[in-house]
Amino acid sequence: MDGTRLRQMVEPLLAWFARNKRDLPWRADREPYHVWLSEIMLQQTRVEAVRDYYVRFLQAAPDVFALAALPEERLLKLWEGLGYYNRARNLQKCARILVERGGAFPDTVEELLALPGVGAYTAGAIASICFERPTAAVDGNVLRVVARITGDRGDIARPETKSRMRAALLSILPQSMPGDFNQALIELGALVCIPAGEPLCVQCPFKTLC
Ligand code: ADE
Repeated sequence: MDGTRLRQMVEPLLAWFARNKRDLPWRADREPYHVWLSEIMLQQTRVEAVRDYYVRFLQAAPDVFALAALPEERLLKLWEGLGYYNRARNLQKCARILVERGGAFPDTVEELLALPGVGAYTAGAIASICFERPTAAVDGNVLRVVARITGDRGDIARPETKSRMRAALLSILPQSMPGDFNQALIELGALVCIPAGEPLCVQCPFKTLC
Protein backbone atom coordinates (compact mmCIF):
# COMPACT_ATOMS: atom_id res chain seq x y z
CA MET A 1 0.00 0.00 0.00
CA ASP A 2 1.40 3.33 -1.05
CA GLY A 3 0.85 5.52 2.01
CA THR A 4 2.65 8.49 0.47
CA ARG A 5 0.20 8.63 -2.39
CA LEU A 6 -2.69 8.41 0.02
CA ARG A 7 -1.25 11.20 2.19
CA GLN A 8 -0.96 13.48 -0.84
CA MET A 9 -4.66 13.25 -1.39
CA VAL A 10 -5.83 14.73 1.93
CA GLU A 11 -5.66 18.43 1.00
CA PRO A 12 -7.00 18.11 -2.56
CA LEU A 13 -9.79 15.86 -1.30
CA LEU A 14 -10.90 18.33 1.38
CA ALA A 15 -10.74 21.22 -1.11
CA TRP A 16 -12.72 19.21 -3.68
CA PHE A 17 -15.35 18.32 -1.06
CA ALA A 18 -15.74 21.95 0.04
CA ARG A 19 -16.52 22.92 -3.56
CA ASN A 20 -18.51 19.93 -4.74
CA LYS A 21 -20.41 18.42 -1.84
CA ARG A 22 -24.07 17.92 -2.43
CA ASP A 23 -26.55 19.97 -0.46
CA LEU A 24 -28.18 17.11 1.45
CA PRO A 25 -30.71 17.62 4.26
CA TRP A 26 -28.62 15.64 6.79
CA ARG A 27 -25.64 17.89 6.17
CA ALA A 28 -27.43 20.97 7.52
CA ASP A 29 -25.96 20.37 10.99
CA ARG A 30 -23.98 17.85 13.02
CA GLU A 31 -26.75 16.79 15.33
CA PRO A 32 -26.09 13.09 16.14
CA TYR A 33 -29.77 12.18 15.79
CA HIS A 34 -29.76 13.55 12.23
CA VAL A 35 -26.47 11.94 11.23
CA TRP A 36 -27.44 8.61 12.79
CA LEU A 37 -30.87 8.52 11.10
CA SER A 38 -29.39 9.40 7.71
CA GLU A 39 -26.57 6.86 7.97
CA ILE A 40 -29.01 4.07 8.89
CA MET A 41 -31.29 5.03 5.97
CA LEU A 42 -28.31 5.20 3.59
CA GLN A 43 -27.03 1.74 4.53
CA GLN A 44 -28.97 -0.07 1.83
CA THR A 45 -30.59 2.79 -0.02
CA ARG A 46 -29.50 5.42 -2.54
CA VAL A 47 -29.14 9.07 -1.58
CA GLU A 48 -31.87 10.26 -3.93
CA ALA A 49 -34.34 7.74 -2.53
CA VAL A 50 -33.44 8.59 1.08
CA ARG A 51 -33.93 12.38 0.82
CA ASP A 52 -37.73 12.47 1.04
CA TYR A 53 -37.94 9.64 3.58
CA TYR A 54 -35.46 11.44 5.80
CA VAL A 55 -37.40 14.73 5.73
CA ARG A 56 -40.73 12.99 6.37
CA PHE A 57 -39.27 10.88 9.18
CA LEU A 58 -37.91 13.94 10.95
CA GLN A 59 -41.26 15.69 10.71
CA ALA A 60 -42.91 12.72 12.45
CA ALA A 61 -40.06 12.07 14.91
CA PRO A 62 -37.92 15.20 15.35
CA ASP A 63 -35.79 13.74 18.17
CA VAL A 64 -35.02 10.49 20.04
CA PHE A 65 -37.85 11.11 22.48
CA ALA A 66 -40.43 11.34 19.70
CA LEU A 67 -38.95 8.29 17.97
CA ALA A 68 -39.00 6.25 21.17
CA ALA A 69 -42.70 7.08 21.62
CA LEU A 70 -43.78 6.48 18.01
CA PRO A 71 -46.43 3.72 17.61
CA GLU A 72 -44.90 0.80 15.68
CA GLU A 73 -47.54 1.04 12.97
CA ARG A 74 -46.59 4.68 12.33
CA LEU A 75 -42.89 3.81 12.37
CA LEU A 76 -43.28 1.07 9.77
CA LYS A 77 -45.49 3.32 7.65
CA LEU A 78 -42.75 5.96 7.60
CA TRP A 79 -40.32 3.27 6.48
CA GLU A 80 -42.62 1.74 3.85
CA GLY A 81 -40.73 1.36 0.56
CA LEU A 82 -37.25 1.63 2.07
CA GLY A 83 -37.13 -2.08 2.86
CA TYR A 84 -34.97 -3.89 5.44
CA TYR A 85 -37.50 -3.08 8.17
CA ASN A 86 -35.18 -4.27 10.91
CA ARG A 87 -33.37 -0.99 10.41
CA ALA A 88 -36.51 0.84 11.56
CA ARG A 89 -37.09 -1.51 14.49
CA ASN A 90 -33.48 -1.13 15.60
CA LEU A 91 -33.73 2.64 15.31
CA GLN A 92 -36.59 2.65 17.78
CA LYS A 93 -34.90 0.13 20.07
CA CYS A 94 -31.85 2.36 20.08
CA ALA A 95 -33.94 5.51 20.71
CA ARG A 96 -35.57 3.83 23.72
CA ILE A 97 -32.17 2.90 25.16
CA LEU A 98 -30.95 6.46 24.71
CA VAL A 99 -34.11 7.92 26.28
CA GLU A 100 -33.61 5.71 29.33
CA ARG A 101 -30.16 7.26 29.68
CA GLY A 102 -31.43 10.83 29.33
CA GLY A 103 -31.55 11.13 25.54
CA ALA A 104 -27.95 11.98 24.57
CA PHE A 105 -25.90 10.00 22.08
CA PRO A 106 -22.62 8.52 23.29
CA ASP A 107 -19.56 10.19 21.74
CA THR A 108 -17.09 7.29 21.44
CA VAL A 109 -16.87 4.56 18.80
CA GLU A 110 -16.96 1.84 21.48
CA GLU A 111 -20.19 3.08 23.06
CA LEU A 112 -21.80 3.75 19.68
CA LEU A 113 -20.94 0.21 18.55
CA ALA A 114 -22.85 -1.19 21.52
CA LEU A 115 -26.12 0.32 20.22
CA PRO A 116 -28.53 -1.87 18.21
CA GLY A 117 -28.11 -1.52 14.45
CA VAL A 118 -24.87 0.47 14.72
CA GLY A 119 -21.92 -1.25 13.04
CA ALA A 120 -18.32 -0.16 12.53
CA TYR A 121 -19.07 2.09 9.57
CA THR A 122 -22.00 3.91 11.23
CA ALA A 123 -20.17 4.28 14.56
CA GLY A 124 -17.17 5.76 12.72
CA ALA A 125 -19.39 8.13 10.75
CA ILE A 126 -21.24 9.44 13.84
CA ALA A 127 -18.08 9.70 15.97
CA SER A 128 -16.11 11.58 13.30
CA ILE A 129 -18.88 13.81 11.89
CA CYS A 130 -20.63 14.74 15.16
CA PHE A 131 -17.86 14.47 17.73
CA GLU A 132 -14.68 15.08 15.69
CA ARG A 133 -13.23 11.75 16.81
CA PRO A 134 -10.25 10.88 14.60
CA THR A 135 -11.68 7.61 13.35
CA ALA A 136 -12.37 6.16 9.91
CA ALA A 137 -15.78 5.35 8.39
CA VAL A 138 -15.06 2.64 5.86
CA ASP A 139 -17.78 1.21 3.65
CA GLY A 140 -17.62 -0.55 0.29
CA ASN A 141 -17.44 2.75 -1.59
CA VAL A 142 -14.52 4.01 0.47
CA LEU A 143 -12.70 0.70 -0.06
CA ARG A 144 -13.13 1.04 -3.82
CA VAL A 145 -11.75 4.58 -3.82
CA VAL A 146 -8.76 3.63 -1.66
CA ALA A 147 -8.07 0.55 -3.81
CA ARG A 148 -8.01 2.66 -6.96
CA ILE A 149 -5.84 5.43 -5.52
CA THR A 150 -3.27 3.13 -3.96
CA GLY A 151 -3.34 0.49 -6.69
CA ASP A 152 -4.04 -2.14 -4.01
CA ARG A 153 -5.46 -5.09 -5.92
CA GLY A 154 -6.49 -7.03 -2.83
CA ASP A 155 -10.04 -8.37 -2.72
CA ILE A 156 -12.00 -5.74 -0.78
CA ALA A 157 -14.38 -8.43 0.47
CA ARG A 158 -11.53 -9.97 2.48
CA PRO A 159 -11.14 -8.85 6.10
CA GLU A 160 -7.34 -8.46 5.78
CA THR A 161 -7.73 -6.13 2.78
CA LYS A 162 -10.28 -4.09 4.71
CA SER A 163 -8.05 -3.80 7.79
CA ARG A 164 -5.03 -2.86 5.66
CA MET A 165 -6.97 -0.05 3.97
CA ARG A 166 -8.54 1.07 7.22
CA ALA A 167 -5.10 1.28 8.85
CA ALA A 168 -3.78 3.28 5.89
CA LEU A 169 -6.70 5.71 6.17
CA LEU A 170 -6.22 6.09 9.93
CA SER A 171 -2.57 6.94 9.38
CA ILE A 172 -3.43 9.93 7.17
CA LEU A 173 -6.72 11.01 8.75
CA PRO A 174 -6.62 14.76 9.48
CA GLN A 175 -7.06 15.36 13.22
CA SER A 176 -8.95 18.61 12.72
CA MET A 177 -11.73 17.61 10.32
CA PRO A 178 -12.05 13.82 10.39
CA GLY A 179 -15.79 13.96 9.64
CA ASP A 180 -15.29 16.08 6.52
CA PHE A 181 -12.51 13.77 5.38
CA ASN A 182 -14.70 10.67 5.77
CA GLN A 183 -17.65 12.33 4.05
CA ALA A 184 -15.38 13.57 1.26
CA LEU A 185 -14.25 10.00 0.52
CA ILE A 186 -17.86 8.84 0.45
CA GLU A 187 -18.80 11.75 -1.80
CA LEU A 188 -15.92 11.13 -4.21
CA GLY A 189 -17.01 7.48 -4.42
CA ALA A 190 -20.59 8.56 -5.17
CA LEU A 191 -19.91 11.34 -7.68
CA VAL A 192 -16.55 10.69 -9.38
CA CYS A 193 -14.91 7.40 -8.47
CA ILE A 194 -18.19 5.62 -9.22
CA PRO A 195 -18.74 1.86 -8.93
CA ALA A 196 -20.49 1.04 -12.18
CA GLY A 197 -18.87 1.86 -15.50
CA GLU A 198 -15.86 4.10 -15.99
CA PRO A 199 -14.88 6.45 -13.14
CA LEU A 200 -15.09 10.13 -14.11
CA CYS A 201 -11.35 10.66 -13.79
CA VAL A 202 -11.27 14.05 -15.54
CA GLN A 203 -13.24 15.49 -12.60
CA CYS A 204 -11.07 13.86 -9.95
CA PRO A 205 -8.90 15.93 -7.62
CA PHE A 206 -6.17 13.24 -7.82
CA LYS A 207 -6.12 12.72 -11.56
CA THR A 208 -2.39 13.37 -11.66
CA LEU A 209 -1.65 11.21 -8.58
CA CYS A 210 -3.87 8.16 -9.03
N1 ADE B 1 -23.66 7.39 2.06
C1 ADE B 1 -23.39 7.00 3.31
N2 ADE B 1 -23.26 8.05 4.13
C2 ADE B 1 -23.45 9.15 3.37
C3 ADE B 1 -23.45 10.54 3.62
N3 ADE B 1 -23.23 11.01 4.84
N4 ADE B 1 -23.66 11.38 2.59
C4 ADE B 1 -23.89 10.88 1.36
N5 ADE B 1 -23.91 9.60 1.06
C5 ADE B 1 -23.70 8.74 2.05
